[in-house]
Amino acid sequence: MFAKRTNWNLAPNRLSEALATHRAAGKPLLDLTVSNPTECGFNYDGSAILNALSNPAALSYEPNPRGLESARRAVAGYYADRNEDVSAEDIFLTTSTSEAYSYIFRTLCDPGDELLIPSPSYPLFDFLADIQDVSLVRYPLDYFKRDRKAVNDHGWQIDFHALEQAITPRTRGVIVVHPNNPTGHFAKRAEIAKLNSICSAREMAIIADEVFLDFALEENRPASFAANRGALTFTLSGLSKISGLPQMKAAWLIVGGPQPWKSEALARLEVIADTYLSVNAPVQLAIPKFLEQQHAFQKQVISRVRRNLAELDRQLATQKACSRLTVEGGWCAVLRVPATRADEDLAVELLTSQGVSVHPGHFYDFSAGEYLVVSLITPEETFAEGVRRILSNF
Ligand SMILES: Cc1ncc(COP(=O)(O)O)c(C=O)c1O
Repeated sequence: MFAKRTNWNLAPNRLSEALATHRAAGKPLLDLTVSNPTECGFNYDGSAILNALSNPAALSYEPNPRGLESARRAVAGYYADRNEDVSAEDIFLTTSTSEAYSYIFRTLCDPGDELLIPSPSYPLFDFLADIQDVSLVRYPLDYFKRDRKAVNDHGWQIDFHALEQAITPRTRGVIVVHPNNPTGHFAKRAEIAKLNSICSAREMAIIADEVFLDFALEENRPASFAANRGALTFTLSGLSKISGLPQMKAAWLIVGGPQPWKSEALARLEVIADTYLSVNAPVQLAIPKFLEQQHAFQKQVISRVRRNLAELDRQLATQKACSRLTVEGGWCAVLRVPATRADEDLAVELLTSQGVSVHPGHFYDFSAGEYLVVSLITPEETFAEGVRRILSNF
């Protein structure tokens, strides 16, 4: 009766079963996997947010496939503040970056066409691709540890040799998560130049997911792909992370790159977007005000991420078994732990014996069983105690 694309194995994994049992028993939990910013104790300007939703202009319907111009201008303003030149005409509003992905996948791919995705990266891609009949092919991000002479870890880099080897005649584009979730790796200038040359030479697109772009830990703001001109580029972002408002379902995609590809992509996307017209009027009208919330929200998040990282480093310095990988940005840290058992077994054990919830690395496609992923937006006391219990396990 059902389409093969929905033949998912929906049985809960051992960790989610253990978590459900733990919660049902009412046991206390130190949750180091939190990613919903509205549940992490950040302060929001509640009245500004709710007032923004009661604009009388929402009483009339002005359908526009790209979304209301006032909202798109505000989004263009967000990029202008970063010195990135983006025209409101190149922006499409969507209800989430997931929806933006689906528009792009539909614009680029016939069933069975391929897109390259980074590995490790976050797990939602598999479902998005299945739903759109797209095949995902992984390209590795390699981690280079500090050598004895170097001052800093070399961190993450795209393995371009493997990326090029993964390209087939069916490859339509390369997805870049900038910075990546959970590695926190930003694509560097040289990497962007190389991606441009690979993609433009083979008539492939770049799809850049920048939901965490503003959460860089270094002082120098990394450039956005939104003004990239070297290849057909789709840049995705939204208010879930920028202003910590995932419940408002306000996101966008931006089309950039050389003609005639850019005009062709805009025209095709316009038909898809016009078919759905999915973003509601009150939210579109509120986008300028929601964007204003970014400064207060990001300040709190960045200071919590820095404090949690400092606490993590303080505790790591007291032992030798575990370490963490370099973090350039984003909301996660990757811990390297002794590979004495499968990472899922370890996560289940941490839950049952320590009451701590973490993500095993394989959720994010880490191959070896020696990684755990923890959320750096976890409230600080919970984070510090959770880390203490994780480290006490080794
Ligand atoms: C890299 C990345 N992209 C996109 C999303 C989803 O964003 P949205 O709420 O706009 O669909 C997430 C959610 O965590 C994410 O980690």
